Amino acid sequence: MSVSVKQLSGKIPLALVTIRPARLFDISEIMRIERESFREAYPRGLFLVFLENNPETFLVAEYNGKVIGYVMAYLRPDLEGHIMSIAVDERYRGNGIGSALLTEAINRLIARGARYIGLEVRVSNEKAIKLYERFGFRKVKRIIGYYSDGEDAYYMLLPAEEWRGS
Ligand SMILES: CC(C)(COP(=O)(O)OP(=O)(O)OC[C@H]1O[C@@H](n2cnc3c(N)ncnc32)[C@H](O)[C@@H]1OP(=O)(O)O)[C@@H](O)C(=O)NCCC(=O)NCCS
Repeated sequence: MSVSVKQLSGKIPLALVTIRPARLFDISEIMRIERESFREAYPRGLFLVFLENNPETFLVAEYNGKVIGYVMAYLRPDLEGHIMSIAVDERYRGNGIGSALLTEAINRLIARGARYIGLEVRVSNEKAIKLYERFGFRKVKRIIGYYSDGEDAYYMLLPAEEWRGS
């Protein structure tokens, strides 16, 4: 009998999930989740450089000693806090982990002076768009052919003064 990924999952209590800064030893697990979540994967070197430059805003979600999600965020010189990538292990989605990662990343970016939070998302990624809209992000621009397979992106923004906090 085959068992689907979804059947292996289940509800996990968010209280047992820790959101913490990523460490060097997390990179392999982060890359596994990234490869399983996206059509285009970043090279390892990019994660290492990102971690070195943004140790406070590259976060992971840990459950039972395992990394099950991550968010990569950074503050740009123009004071836009940018969400570069966010993903949760498929088996653990729908438990509020993506929301918890996003909340902590936004809090940290605003604490560091971000005036607004920005991100790009595939126009077909309805689940993520819905999540961002629930957080108060609005679509401000459609970027034609943003992704290497030709798909467009929405550029979405959340002004810091509209952030409700956690
Ligand atoms: C987008 C993504 C990060 C969201 O992660 P997640 O952990 O599933 O996010 P959440 O659990 O916080 O929210 C997802 C849904 O679960 C629901 N949910 C949240 N907490 C819940 C709980 N305790 N019990 C049941 N459902 C819950 C939310 O209401 C939300 O519902 P919706 O889909 O109807 O809006 C995840 O789907 C993912 O990794 N996708 C692939 C990568 C990707 O597309 N990243 C974004 C690129 S821009």
